[in-house]
Amino acid sequence: MSDKVIRAFAPATVANVGPGFDCFGFAIEGVGDAVEVREWPEAKKRKKISLEVRGDGGKLPVKPAKNCASAVALAMLEESGADFGLKMILGKGLPLGSGLGSSGASSAAAAVAVNALLDNRYASEELIRFAALGEQVACGTAHLDNVAPAILGGFVLVRQGEDVQAITVPVPEWWVAVVHPQLELPTRKARAVIPSQITLTTMTRNVSNAAALMVALMSNDLELFGRAVMSDMVVEPARAPLITNYKLVKKAALSAGAAGVSISGAGPSIFAVATDKPRAREIGQAMSAVWNALEISTEVYVSPLGARGARIIET
Ligand code: HSE
Repeated sequence: MSDKVIRAFAPATVANVGPGFDCFGFAIEGVGDAVEVREWPEAKKRKKISLEVRGDGGKLPVKPAKNCASAVALAMLEESGADFGLKMILGKGLPLGSGLGSSGASSAAAAVAVNALLDNRYASEELIRFAALGEQVACGTAHLDNVAPAILGGFVLVRQGEDVQAITVPVPEWWVAVVHPQLELPTRKARAVIPSQITLTTMTRNVSNAAALMVALMSNDLELFGRAVMSDMVVEPARAPLITNYKLVKKAALSAGAAGVSISGAGPSIFAVATDKPRAREIGQAMSAVWNALEISTEVYVSPLGARGARIIET
């Protein structure tokens, strides 16, 4: 038995990125969740987990099978045939239901921490697969557009077919402002409003813009990127009414010089893209001001588009 204590951190992520519903996501710096694990020799049953959650105001489940971080760990212990239990502490740096990939960061940090305890037997694709189980537990679908960038970092395209492939896309040195209003929007609820069927014309437009977004990243074309980000005809229109003052915040970002603006993940956070850090900061302030005028407080995160992914933190 090892008495190692392992801590991992996973960053917040912006998922969807306009027309890339469940397919595109990127990591941002400065905020995320941490998971600490250690073997638990006193566990009465092998593979049992004792979970403590900090920083969630008591809102998250602590039953191991119901919490996304411990559910990921249970699956990893089971599949690896580990003969020990775990003590786990989940430290929430991310607000719940924020559109910042909160459950994705918890799941990714858990996968990376437990993998270190298992002597890194799993490669990153397998960690993404495990972390997706956490999303399933948290919101009912195993989407990968938060967990893949949370683990790999950068900007990730999740290609879906009979197999699933997480592809890291090189990005220019662009900046983003992500503004989180103190409103909670559960992903489950935000997914329930999306139309289950779309027309062929809508599909054509979304596919063409998703492809344009990739080309824009690869050719350093911020103007095209911004237009593509704002072209989603399916998810953004359905979710916008769930976010107080969405249209005004978007307008404020564009007036302050954003190249593109859309909902971050399932919302209510909104992200905007800019050429550089000072501009991103100004855009973030302009977006914030709209909500603040309604006495809705905000957190503003300014980050390069595509930050570092999950990692072990030395203790
Ligand atoms: N792609 C997911 C959604 C991200 O939009 O529902 C949730 O964080």
